Amino acid sequence: MAINKHEVFSIKKARRLTRWVRRILQNPNKILRPYVRSGMNVLDFGCGPGFFTIEAAKLAGEEGRVIAVDLQQGMLDLLADKIKGSELEKRIILRKCEDNKIGVTEGVDVFLAIHVVHEVPDKALFFMAVKNILKPKGIFYVSEPKGRVDKAEFEEMIMIAKKNGFKIKDQPKIYLDRAIVLSHDGA
Ligand SMILES: C[S@@+](CC[C@H](N)C(=O)[O-])C[C@H]1O[C@@H](n2cnc3c(N)ncnc32)[C@H](O)[C@@H]1O
Repeated sequence: MAINKHEVFSIKKARRLTRWVRRILQNPNKILRPYVRSGMNVLDFGCGPGFFTIEAAKLAGEEGRVIAVDLQQGMLDLLADKIKGSELEKRIILRKCEDNKIGVTEGVDVFLAIHVVHEVPDKALFFMAVKNILKPKGIFYVSEPKGRVDKAEFEEMIMIAKKNGFKIKDQPKIYLDRAIVLSHDGA
């Protein structure tokens, strides 16, 4: 079994993920706008309380869908509370997953993995699973916090992704993050 040095982000600290200061430093609309368009099917893996999910759903529009996946039911409950009764409730599908399983089979245009890959125990298995559900021209957006993931660890993640058939499409500059946009070989 793969050993992971990082713990799963505690539900007790969930509020830190949606603080106003983060919205200023890492504006989710600005970050996602180049990739998420109207009508797209987006998957937000390790969605937490939905800091990026909500913005992705707005950008995907009425015809689009965002599948919000998390290991912790508590995180999904926080997101459910936020969208309850709003238009976005129809566009966001909440899915609880198991460790090392995404639990989604439908094809997605954009796969978001924001501040989560370092918490995933078996990264090779994870990248293979992403490849299986990403549409041929789909994009895979990965970002990690610099405070928790150093350059060497991030480069190792990219190496594992490349071994599993991904290539680098873009390297956006995100304040306090290490970010990369990947696509399938040949896409
Ligand atoms: C640091 S939080 C980031 C949340 C969100 N992406 C954001 O940027 O605000 C990491 C989230 O990933 C989830 N997570 C950790 N390991 C996971 C796994 N193996 N599968 C699915 N979700 C996982 C945690 O429960 C937590 O909600």
